[in-house]
Amino acid sequence: MNPSPSSSGGGSVPARELWGTRWGFVLAAVGSAVGLGNMWRFSYIAAEGGGAAFLLLYIVMIALLGIPLMLCELTVGRRTHLSPIGALRELGGKGWVPLGFLFVVTGFLILSYYSVIAGWTLRYAAEAAFIGFAPDPGAHFGEISEGRAAIGWHLAFMVLTIGIVMVGIQKGIERAALILMPTLVLIVLGLAVWALFLEGAGEGYAFYLMPDLGELMDGTVLRQATAQAFFSLSLGMGAMLTFASYLSRDTDLNQEAVTISFADFGVAFLAGLVVFPVIFALGLQDSVTESTVGALFISLPGAFVEMGTMGRVVGLLFFLALGVGAITSAISLLEVVTSSIIDELGMARKNAAIGIGILIAFVGLLSARDIDFLGLADAIAGDLFLVVGAFCMSLFVGWFIKADPAEELARGAGEGFKRFIPLVIFLIRYVLPPVILIVLVFALQDTWAAITAFIVGS
Ligand code: PHE
Repeated sequence: MNPSPSSSGGGSVPARELWGTRWGFVLAAVGSAVGLGNMWRFSYIAAEGGGAAFLLLYIVMIALLGIPLMLCELTVGRRTHLSPIGALRELGGKGWVPLGFLFVVTGFLILSYYSVIAGWTLRYAAEAAFIGFAPDPGAHFGEISEGRAAIGWHLAFMVLTIGIVMVGIQKGIERAALILMPTLVLIVLGLAVWALFLEGAGEGYAFYLMPDLGELMDGTVLRQATAQAFFSLSLGMGAMLTFASYLSRDTDLNQEAVTISFADFGVAFLAGLVVFPVIFALGLQDSVTESTVGALFISLPGAFVEMGTMGRVVGLLFFLALGVGAITSAISLLEVVTSSIIDELGMARKNAAIGIGILIAFVGLLSARDIDFLGLADAIAGDLFLVVGAFCMSLFVGWFIKADPAEELARGAGEGFKRFIPLVIFLIRYVLPPVILIVLVFALQDTWAAITAFIVGS
């Protein structure tokens, strides 16, 4: 590990720790992408938004919007071998440094409340293992989601995250991803197969996948789907940029972007194949609300309780998978902030990770004490800031970057992918900015509504 920010342009080889293997990078990036957003929010939006028809649309959107945007981040990271602030300075000049700061602030804020939710997850897993799910999950969630109970698990989760990031890229982040991601996929796959045999599974699948073209035409569905795609792929806050800054220059970014995006989609899709059969098998569909939190931490545990011992085992596995997804996402959030401090201030990794991690944990106390504050932080950072970041990033790579993005994408690219580069550049320049701008207008409205609701409520 060498903290020196010594890179300059494409030529010189900076002294920066690199990923040990291709799979290390891919799994760490998939780990960033697969998280709390996959296990419930995706399948819910799919079910409401047109079922199987939505899935097709979502795949098209990933190809047309998600992958190009991911390539924007990957090229900038790999080319500069720097964390966001330095990378944007190098390829854009001083005027783009604020965007790097926005990324760092976004990572900081998202992690501060993401860790609280992850803390609930760990607690549920521990309860399933040692005492069983609480008989009244609604009341139980009310008790553990705020205050002292939430603070303890939030801090425990932050310690875990800091512990991995401070060790470094290969020995910390890469090793964690190589162990955790296959575990997660195996668990979710196993649960999906198990759910196949539940009575009522058919109805669950029907609710999830019944194609409905009418829903697709709804503007809200399209907008939600776009925002979900960006959040789920960890785009708009420099996570993929930062991970790509540890790549050697001959990696085929196109191939990696495709792999990461479809792996993320695959896990989200599979999770839906678990969640809906479980809920329908127990006739709990009416208790499902649009709230991510309510469904994950109240409806599902309610189903697990009713399933007795089997429910306890399945619930344990489910919350373990969720916890694994959360920790690999949290790692990437902390890494964005940590690597920026290492590069900009020349601090040693260990000190940077511990120092900033403690600060984030501290700010997270606000979310742990007050669930309304958590909602507000999510509306500001998880909704608005990500979309602003994504918008600026597409403009940057499309129009302002002091490098030829087509040439960058071609470096290391296989022949099959090379043919698509002009299309990708076209999408980055002419499709991403206007589409993200529309999403941004709506995100502004939503965030404004969340801010006023918070002020009125408190
Ligand atoms: N992609 C993660 C999820 O689906 C969340 C995340 C967003 C992680 C942005 C890192 C950066 O839960």
